[in-house]
Amino acid sequence: MSRIVVVVAIGALILLELFGASSCKHFPVEVIPDPDPIDTTINPPPPPDDTLGAPCDTNVVYFEQQILPILISNCAISGCHNVDSHQENVVLVSYESIMNTADVEPFLPGESKLYKVLIEDNPDKQMPQPPVQPLSAAQINLIATWILQGAQNLSCDPDAAGCDTTHVTFTGYVFPVIQSYCLGCHGSVSPVGGFSLNTYEAVKDVALSGKLYGAIAHQQGFSPMPQGGNPLSDCRVQKINAWIDAGALNN
Ligand code: HEC
Repeated sequence: MSRIVVVVAIGALILLELFGASSCKHFPVEVIPDPDPIDTTINPPPPPDDTLGAPCDTNVVYFEQQILPILISNCAISGCHNVDSHQENVVLVSYESIMNTADVEPFLPGESKLYKVLIEDNPDKQMPQPPVQPLSAAQINLIATWILQGAQNLSCDPDAAGCDTTHVTFTGYVFPVIQSYCLGCHGSVSPVGGFSLNTYEAVKDVALSGKLYGAIAHQQGFSPMPQGGNPLSDCRVQKINAWIDAGALNN
């Protein structure tokens, strides 16, 4: 009887040694550091080359040209969601930071925090918070469509067909550009830099002073605008310059 117990005990020990103990051995996992880490939150990589120069398809919402400027101007403001302030850990300065911090669910605007805060009824939760004005219905729609289309990092060249600087009007061209790139900071309520750009008169004054061109063309002696965002395309700068040269008319 006791012999059986001893044999069973030894058998169990051998089994344990063979399987139990050996199955617990882990191979050491070596973490190989990234040899060339790129901080994408501060230095977003340029869009892939194959999309550079591609003409824009009007059925597609392009992150780089249509979504990022709105977020930079209205949300990535000092004290809100730029790299330094990152309220609630949300940083809205590049594709990577937006996808990593604003809970964007591709194809599902209703599940995406970035969209939900725009249509929020509760004024305490609605974004952007005062003094920045709410986004326009068209801007909110654009963000929803971008998410519906998969929230991709797409870029196109609005000037692929060439840059036409003739007949540039304030209402048809200059003001729409200012609305998406500048009004979040230079809006009507406590505008930064001490001036707003939300009326024709205001834009005309800045234009005729030379500061508008100096700032968007990144000329020396002027603060480069839009602050913290990508520069306007060469063609946009040329077109706005053509409008200024023609007298900055209210056309
Ligand atoms: C993220 C906020 C922000 C955005 C977006 C922005 N600005 Fe500014 N802007 C500022 C601040 C802050 C100042 C004042 C401080 C400074 O001069 O750097 C300023 C100053 C300026 C000045 C005066 C520059 C000078 O050197 O006297 C002009 C002109 C200007 N902005 C035009 C624009 C235009 C046009 C756009 C859109 C294409 C734009 N800004 C977008 C924040 C912004």
